[in-house]
Amino acid sequence: MVSVDAGQPCRIVLLASGTGSLSQAVLDASADSGCLFRVVALVSDRDCAAVEKAQRAGLATAVVRPADHPDRAAWDLALTQTVRSFGPDWVVSAGFMRILGPEFLGAFDGRVVNTHPALLPAFPGAHAVRDALAYGVAVSGCTVHLVDAGVDTGPVIAQRAVEVRQDDTEATLHERIKSVERELLVDVLTAAAGGRLRTEGRKVHLS
Ligand code: GRF
Repeated sequence: MVSVDAGQPCRIVLLASGTGSLSQAVLDASADSGCLFRVVALVSDRDCAAVEKAQRAGLATAVVRPADHPDRAAWDLALTQTVRSFGPDWVVSAGFMRILGPEFLGAFDGRVVNTHPALLPAFPGAHAVRDALAYGVAVSGCTVHLVDAGVDTGPVIAQRAVEVRQDDTEATLHERIKSVERELLVDVLTAAAGGRLRTEGRKVHLS
């Protein structure tokens, strides 16, 4: 696992596709003095609020659109090169709505983190909150995990539970999950930057 070298903050590149509340939470945390990580760029697959928020914060941004590339492999390579140009120690997928390809995962092996709005392995995929509600669970939550080649299948780093209420809609439950998810993500990045993550097969120990 990558940790901080002699007082150098750990460099983070954020990936986001949506409203950017999670990426903004990481940015806000990194602005605190004494924070062990520094966000160096936000990269997206589309023009979106996350990119606008990052630009307003004075952060470097880049948009790598699948439509600008002949196929998935070419897009994967372009995304990899763009992210690599920012020299990240860790890459954080915070609401990035694309599956990362083999080129990307090879380049940043074991240093890509994703956050997901359900308690994995329950409800993987793009509609986790909707699926959890439709299933009728009483408790859902969020998971921060390492990214592997599958869809939301990488080793779990940390999880937090959120109660599902009788009158929840997808929007109300997702908002409540996101407020917990933002805190959890910042906590995990702080631990990662401080060298407090250790992996042992599928187990990730947070000390
Ligand atoms: C989060 O719940 C994330 O887990 C999911 O999309 C949401 C992103 O929220 N993949 P925001 O765009 O950062 O507000």
